[in-house]
Amino acid sequence: MATRQKAAGSPGAFILLGPPGAGKGTQAKELARRCGIPQIATGDILREAVRRETPLGLEAKAVMARGELVSDDMVCAIVEQRIKQEDCKNGFILDGFPRTMAQAERLDQILTAAGWGRPKVIYLAVGMEERMRRLAGRRGCKVCGRIYNIYDRPPRLEGRCDDDGSELTRRHDDSREAVVRARFEAYEKETAPLVRYYRRSGKVHRVDGKLSLEQVTREVLKLCRAYDHMQSKGRA
Ligand code: AP5
Repeated sequence: MATRQKAAGSPGAFILLGPPGAGKGTQAKELARRCGIPQIATGDILREAVRRETPLGLEAKAVMARGELVSDDMVCAIVEQRIKQEDCKNGFILDGFPRTMAQAERLDQILTAAGWGRPKVIYLAVGMEERMRRLAGRRGCKVCGRIYNIYDRPPRLEGRCDDDGSELTRRHDDSREAVVRARFEAYEKETAPLVRYYRRSGKVHRVDGKLSLEQVTREVLKLCRAYDHMQSKGRA
C-alpha cells in the first residue's frame, strides 16, 4: 500500500467504538457528512454482500444471523481494500471495526504502513436496557440507508423514508431477542477489551451515548476539534 501522509487540516482516521445500538452508525453518518470523509461500516458492507449473494455474503450470512462475529481475516481484508480508495484520501470513519484484539492489531499495522498514524478513537457508552429499546425501534431505509427509530426518531409517514419514500425495514439481527443478546455477548467478550486496549495508549475518548442524538453529535464534533488542537501541539 502506498504510504500516505495526512494532509494538514484533513480529518484523518476515526474509530467509533461501542456496543450494538450505541449509535455508531447514526453518528458515523453525521460525522461523515460534516467532515466530508466516508463512513466505513463493516456491518453495512457485509449486509450488502449478503443481499447480493456474493461469495463473501454467502460465507457471512449464517454467522451474522446468529449474532456472532465473522472471521477476522474477512473483515480485515475488506477494510484494508476500502481505505485504499480515493475517497479515503483525507480520512475515514470506521464504524463496527475493529471488533477483536486481532482486528485492532491488524488495523494498527495497516494504518502505520499507509502513513495514517494513530486513529482518533471515540467510544459511545450506553447501558443495555436503552440499547435493547433502541434496537427494538430501529428501522432503516432499504435504498439510502437512513436510520430511524419508531420511538425517538420516527419518519414523517409511517414505514416510509422521509428522503426518498422507500420502504423502511427492520434488520434481521434486530428482530429476535436471542440474536440481539448474542450480539451483546460477542461485544462484551471480544470488543469491550478494545476500549482498554486503546485507553492504555491514551487514545480513547468516552462520550455519553445516552444523550440526545444532537447532543452526542455535538460532543463527538467537539472531540474532533480537540484532536486537531492536540495534533497541532504534537500530543495526539
Ligand atoms: P453492525 O452492523 O456493525 O451492528 P452492531 O455493532 O450490532 O451495531 P448496530 O448497527 O446494531 O448499532 P449502532 O451502534 O450502529 O446503532 P445505530 O446508530 O444504528 O454488525 C452487524 C453484524 O455484522 C455483526 O453482528 C457481525 O456478525 C458482523 N460484523 C460487522 N463488523 C464486524 C467485524 N468488524 N468483525 C466481525 N464481524 C463483524 O442506532 C440504533 C438505534 O438507536 C437507531 O434506531 C437510532 O435512531 C437510535 N439512536 C441512535 N442514537 C440515539 C440517541 N442518542 N438517542 C436516541 N436514539 C438513538
